Amino acid sequence: MITKCLFPAAGYGTRFLPATKAMPKEMLPILTKPLIQYGVEEAMDAGCNVMAIITGRGKRSITDHFDISYELEHQIKDTSKDKMLDGIREIIQKCTFTYTRQNEMKGLGDAIYKGNVLVGFSNPFAVVLADDLCVNPEGDGVLKQMVNLYNKYKCCIVAIMEVPHEDVYKYGVIEGSEIEDGVFMVSNMVEKPDIDKAPSNLAVIGRYILTPDIFDVIKNTKPGKNGELQITDALCEHAKKGMVIAYKFKGKRFDCGSVEGFVEATNYFYNLEQAKN
Ligand code: G1P
Repeated sequence: MITKCLFPAAGYGTRFLPATKAMPKEMLPILTKPLIQYGVEEAMDAGCNVMAIITGRGKRSITDHFDISYELEHQIKDTSKDKMLDGIREIIQKCTFTYTRQNEMKGLGDAIYKGNVLVGFSNPFAVVLADDLCVNPEGDGVLKQMVNLYNKYKCCIVAIMEVPHEDVYKYGVIEGSEIEDGVFMVSNMVEKPDIDKAPSNLAVIGRYILTPDIFDVIKNTKPGKNGELQITDALCEHAKKGMVIAYKFKGKRFDCGSVEGFVEATNYFYNLEQAKN
């Protein structure tokens, strides 16, 4: 059973300066909800009830967001605003939030490694990068699709999508053979390759299912691209020894780490709301 979801949330969000100078990028709102809440909801929908968040300095508002605000509750009680907190109240009631800090920015692999104290060494766990906002209006959320696939293959899984070839340098890119429709057995992975060296245009997005043996692999992985410990490199090692699956998810992903993707997501959710009213 996958019940724990790790949220690496220690990054600086420099692409959103000055907005992220004193505010975590994960707290930027798409309409009225912060980005990380969308990720938590996707994880709950996939069956997780422990949200393990890797934070850093200046990220305390994330902790406060997933806690009761007594002053606010008192202030809006019996007013029309009261129902605006229903969603977050339900999350706080149903989930346990655990936190640890990544003290130094040493890469996504290092952030995930820090999470071992929160997710333990006995069970597989999910990883969500909150600035990749995923939706699937047609059915199961992306993480739920991956959990279902995990139940079949019982190995590490990364979500992938086809990107234009000129964009591959922004992503971890996989090479693999398709073993069933949209499911690839990974043979190679490269973090942010040069365009002419990319093994394919199948890019990893911020959704992973990892088995706990990945921690040993990360421990023995050397810093890679940009001098950072990359989860892509650890997974590539793992793929050579064991099994890593890449899954072309159903749905849509907004890159909310970029201003364009953020605006696109805002418009998407705004139009959804308008259609409801
Ligand atoms: C991270 C990963 C990369 C992945 C991307 C998806 O990069 O390192 O492999 O493709 O997330 O969003 P980042 O965007 O944090 O630089």
